[in-house]
Amino acid sequence: MPTFNEAENIGPMIEELVGKEFAKITNADMHLLVVDANSPDGTAKVVQEKQRKFKRLHLLVKKKAGLGADYIAGFKYAMSKLKADAVMEMDADGQHPPRFVKPMVEAYLNGADYVIGSRYITGGSIPKEWAFFRKFVSFTGNLFIRLVLLKPRLHDLTTGFRLTKVKGVLDQIDLDSIMEPKRFAYKVDLLYQSVKNAKNVKEVPLEFVPRTKEKSKFDTREMISTFKVAIILGIKDKAKFLKFATVGFIGYLVNASTLLLFTKRQFPGPLAWGFSTELAIINNFIFNNIWTFKSEKITGLQKLMYKFLQFNMTSAGALVIQIVFGSLSDILFGVAYRQLALPFIILFLVLPYNYFMYNMVIWKSWKLRGAKKINNPIP
Ligand code: GDD
Ligand code: MN
Repeated sequence: MPTFNEAENIGPMIEELVGKEFAKITNADMHLLVVDANSPDGTAKVVQEKQRKFKRLHLLVKKKAGLGADYIAGFKYAMSKLKADAVMEMDADGQHPPRFVKPMVEAYLNGADYVIGSRYITGGSIPKEWAFFRKFVSFTGNLFIRLVLLKPRLHDLTTGFRLTKVKGVLDQIDLDSIMEPKRFAYKVDLLYQSVKNAKNVKEVPLEFVPRTKEKSKFDTREMISTFKVAIILGIKDKAKFLKFATVGFIGYLVNASTLLLFTKRQFPGPLAWGFSTELAIINNFIFNNIWTFKSEKITGLQKLMYKFLQFNMTSAGALVIQIVFGSLSDILFGVAYRQLALPFIILFLVLPYNYFMYNMVIWKSWKLRGAKKINNPIP
């Protein structure tokens, strides 16, 4: 729980969360770590006072380095000093009501390794008191990030209320190179990487209530940097697509040139077509492996052979698409339109099919399973 000038809020928050809510969670050993950015208003003093009463309350005071950096310091402390199995992010100002902690922990205990406290699923909400414009910005901002990150199945990508399992998710992230650590925008990068690592993402409803004391530290600059991070991450994905398309085009050139060569050498028809196509497939496999999908690179002879076989089967799928839709186009428009039909079939069917299969099956860089929603509102 990060704090900056929350002296008025932190006392009641600790009482409610550590005093009341933790007691209701009997199947997990709950601790609260407050990371205070050396607040001039004496927030840390209030926490120290409460530490006498609550054994499971910890305090880390540090120089203010921005929300992301302060959270990262907190994560490191929780992992190394407190030996945490999972960490949560939660605001200190009461906007994340402590009663929502329990369902998050339950989702984790039921097997989720990344849990998102979501304002945009049934049972979740943003403050009714917010003006229409603020609601609109919050919702469309989220929608925008969902789209650029290609995460349509997750509903709240900027929430400050989340649970992350340490083993396999948080400990696989290089926290020192997280984007925009000084800002709230770190949340988008952290979410992006966590979702990548996680095997079981769940969204649990969160009622985000208005702030009553002190004021928000989120402003237009924070919002712009949040969009910036989303766009950069989104482009990283697109860069992958461009590489894939380039490799595909080179594959086409290999196919065409070797076909010409084999024709000149008077290879029998099926051999000329077969060899040239297979050479293109080999080209595509090698360059996608070492370039497009270099972060998921397949290594080791056995794995390479198995994946290459799989790759060939995927390519056979593309062949089926061409046969089926090519024939369909023949029936609908006649053979005269073949030269027009081919680029359409390649562009709109074969390319997406290949890209999908490479990402989902061959190199497994996408995990599109999205989140399982838990919609039952909390009592
Ligand atoms: N340690 C530390 N350092 N804490 C900070 C800092 C900082 O630089 N800046 C803010 N905090 C603390 C606040 O004291 C509060 O506990 C929490 O971080 C959230 O800050 P708010 O200022 O209340 O943010 P908000 O309510 O406007 O923003 C909420 O919505 C955002 C967008 O959906 C938060 O939930 C954000 O996490 C969320 O991204
Ligand atoms: Mn707040």
